[in-house]
Amino acid sequence: MEEVAHQTVGSPLSDGAEATVVAESYLGLEAIRKTRVSKAYRAEAFDRRIRNERLRAEVRLLREARRMGLRTPHVFDIDEAAFAIIMERIPGRTLTEVFTDGKASQQEVLGVAARLGEALGKLHAGGMSHGDLTGSNVVWNGKDIAFIDMSMGSRTPELEDFGIDLHLVEEDFNTLLPDPPIVYQAFLHGYALGNPSGAKKNTARAREIKGRVRYS
Ligand SMILES: Nc1ncnc2c1ncn2[C@@H]1O[C@H](COP(=O)(O)OP(=O)(O)O)[C@@H](O)[C@H]1O
Ligand SMILES: [Mg+2]
Repeated sequence: MEEVAHQTVGSPLSDGAEATVVAESYLGLEAIRKTRVSKAYRAEAFDRRIRNERLRAEVRLLREARRMGLRTPHVFDIDEAAFAIIMERIPGRTLTEVFTDGKASQQEVLGVAARLGEALGKLHAGGMSHGDLTGSNVVWNGKDIAFIDMSMGSRTPELEDFGIDLHLVEEDFNTLLPDPPIVYQAFLHGYALGNPSGAKKNTARAREIKGRVRYS
């Protein structure tokens, strides 16, 4: 029964602009409940539609990315009335934490960046963009990269979407790391392994976007 299956065990892990995330247990498993919050500036019917669409997009993209062999949280349940997804809690730290908490050696940082590149390469090669690829939307469990927060991804991405994913990673590395270029190189090396046929044109587009941003 719902009430028995869902037991809130903690205060919010994250309280963002779009969603609140709390830890729960789900049938004895470590889970999180991600609830999309209502936005006062949206008309009510539109607000409900947007929250519902994003929830559905997230569930679909998490599942489809996993079918490509990537690590994403399993969705355990959907609470449509509350605009909430109950999903597996991926143990580990976000990439932002790995890069900023001072616990990771340079060697580990380079390794994680390369693994992120490879995972993103696979995602792109499989025909999906992430859409919001910052360090807080990637979890590292010491072994694998897991993608979370995928609702802005596309299943019919264009070259520009791939370029934006790569560009966002570079920007994020720039804000999080003391030596971003070396780490971004490791990331790109991994990316080329994950997406051998698309790496050249996608990284070229990322460079073009960087130029556009710089001179606009
Ligand atoms: N499945 C999960 N496993 C582990 N941590 C998660 C999971 N989902 C979310 N989190 C944590 O909660 C934070 C916010 O969740 P996220 O899905 O990125 O929502 P938002 O739209 O608010 O950014 C993440 O940065 C991460 O720290
Ligand atoms: Mg997020």
